[in-house]
Amino acid sequence: MNRSEAMKIRRSLGRAKLGWTFGILLMGGPLPTAAWAAEANYDESRVPDYILPDPLRKENGRPVKSAQAWRDQRRPELLRLFETHVYGRTPGPTKRMEFKVRSVDPDALGGKATRKEVTIHFGGAPDGPQLRLLIYAPNGRERPAPAFLGLNFNGNHTVHADPGITIAGGGGERAAVPDRGSSSRRWPVETILDRGYALVTAWYGDLEPDRADGWKEGVRELFRPNPGSREFPPDAWGAIGAWAWGLSRAMDYLETDPDIDRDRVALIGHSRLGKTALWAGAQDERFKIVISNNSGCGGAALSRRQFGETVERINRVFPHWFCARFKEYGAGEDRLPVDQHQLIALIAPRPVYVASAAEDLWADPRGEFLAALAAEPVYRLLGRPGLGVNDPPPLDHAVGDFIGYHIRAGKHDVTDYDWAQYLGFADRHFGK
Ligand code: GCU
Repeated sequence: MNRSEAMKIRRSLGRAKLGWTFGILLMGGPLPTAAWAAEANYDESRVPDYILPDPLRKENGRPVKSAQAWRDQRRPELLRLFETHVYGRTPGPTKRMEFKVRSVDPDALGGKATRKEVTIHFGGAPDGPQLRLLIYAPNGRERPAPAFLGLNFNGNHTVHADPGITIAGGGGERAAVPDRGSSSRRWPVETILDRGYALVTAWYGDLEPDRADGWKEGVRELFRPNPGSREFPPDAWGAIGAWAWGLSRAMDYLETDPDIDRDRVALIGHSRLGKTALWAGAQDERFKIVISNNSGCGGAALSRRQFGETVERINRVFPHWFCARFKEYGAGEDRLPVDQHQLIALIAPRPVYVASAAEDLWADPRGEFLAALAAEPVYRLLGRPGLGVNDPPPLDHAVGDFIGYHIRAGKHDVTDYDWAQYLGFADRHFGK
């Protein structure tokens, strides 16, 4: 991005300042605790000047002028930069992967859905790492169903109180196994089914427990030449890479499932799992829609703004999420060869949706909007209308075509309002 474009973004940033300052006063989500919220910047006037790296300028400085040059040169180049500097390199599928259908109930949820539980075994050992999928496919349809696929935080049995779901998975960073249906507020299963979509989910901790030494128990160990060792090359993948890899393996299974329309799978993720969805969607083009809900730093938000959570802080508190090299940029985001608008651009020309919440300043809603905006030139080059606006829309007002965006009133969360937008977006792009 050239200086005048960057300045344009900066100017539009100034215009909406009032609304965002108001948001700061309202902040009170469950996430930032007093100590580290205090060290974060929530003041627009203290956002440093920055110039975003241009998604359409190759490493050798040449501009990308055709869809083919984007596809053949710039896209692979950008993917490599994100691998090398942010998320680490993702290996291909493991040689030894097995799908086991554990249960099928054609009469689940009062006959509304077929519920399936499928385990994907990795590494050839029955007690090795595995990903347990929970699938609800709507009944009474003539064709395979389009689907939403998303990892969950607390175990499959938390997305719905349905007693037929096997209790599996713990609470991520929590020790106790949460109750059935305890996260159901974030997963409107019946609504999704009534709209004709299947829902596919799995607990992210199956792939790797979310803690600094989680790698010892997760899928990353399957690929290491030196299992058990604490030595990681600077571009070795982190936990976000492992979770994203798992989403692609779930997709490998879905391609074989006759209930699912493999050409209409939308990927969705919230917060750290929103970061994961974006990275998975950037790499794997089988995901035909990608939805980032409040993904923030390392997700949809521009790192260079240093607003709310910063690269320094995310690396310090979650050292396992990104590759080791990403830690070098805590003291200088402007040296990063990429920024997060380019991650969004990697999803082009497929539809992408970025959603923010007004009180979720930790995730830098404005930085999420600006990243979506700065991804637009790639969509334009590929002949797809993007956001269609230059300034953040009012609260609870969705905008955009192939790049969707809204900022919802309220806190860091996934709400019915968010889902209503995602279902509408999927209807539109999946031609329903
Ligand atoms: C923390 C973290 C964020 C992350 C969030 C979540 O707040 O700092 O980066 O998105 O947790 O995953 O809930």
